[in-house]
Amino acid sequence: MPTLTVNRRSVTVGDDATILEACRVAGVEVPTLCNFDGLEPWGGCRLCVVDMSLRTWDDDWFKMVTACNHPVEEGMTVVTNSDRVVATRGVVLDLLLARCPETPLIQRLAREHGIEETTYQRNPEPTDCILCGLCTRVCDHIGVSAIASVNRGWGREIAPPFNEPPPDCVGCLACAEICPTDHIKFSTSSTVRTIWGREFEMLRDPATGEAVITKAQAEHFAKRSGVPMSYFEMSDRSKRLKTAKTFEELQVVK
Ligand code: SF4
Ligand code: FES
Repeated sequence: MPTLTVNRRSVTVGDDATILEACRVAGVEVPTLCNFDGLEPWGGCRLCVVDMSLRTWDDDWFKMVTACNHPVEEGMTVVTNSDRVVATRGVVLDLLLARCPETPLIQRLAREHGIEETTYQRNPEPTDCILCGLCTRVCDHIGVSAIASVNRGWGREIAPPFNEPPPDCVGCLACAEICPTDHIKFSTSSTVRTIWGREFEMLRDPATGEAVITKAQAEHFAKRSGVPMSYFEMSDRSKRLKTAKTFEELQVVK
């Protein structure tokens, strides 16, 4: 259980903790854009940079690292608000504001860092995609990998293969729900869900008629988990009712 200091506050954290987790324990906020609890840290956006130093280093020697994927060590010193850390975060946000000048999340973060307008060339075709990679990583995580990052420069974006309806997609919406800027568009009706240019049949709860999940998603989850398809087509309300009924029928042992 390493003990370290974060902005002069002493904290003790688990052996596998990252600097970001230690900052949270210390109550110190570090901005992040590509980090999501439950997904492997990626270190892509560079917004979470902090200064760190180890006991064995010279007193004035600090190294800038990304907090989300850097492990803690016993005796480590972490500084989240040094001049160069603040300046580096400013550059990251300035660049993001050039790419995504109309994206409210980036505008707000940039403003919080004193940036109203980008000092770089503004993207001639503004996008809300900040290239955080959360959507592709969550898609990989659930074993689908239907989308990927393509192209370079201004044109870099997230897309399915050949920009065509992705054959591997199961229409689960994990990518759209994790996207911090709501860039991924979809629609769901009582019978059909549309995302990435592909239409998916919705499965309806046999008891309530409520559209619950796409058929492709239920098949994917049933195959991966071994849980029968019928479980996935039940709405949350039906699951609660079934649980209540099961408890009602149980004999209480006193
Ligand atoms: S589409 Fe959303 S989640 Fe995916 S990289 Fe872009 S901003 Fe991140
Ligand atoms: S949150 Fe650490 S690099 Fe993006």
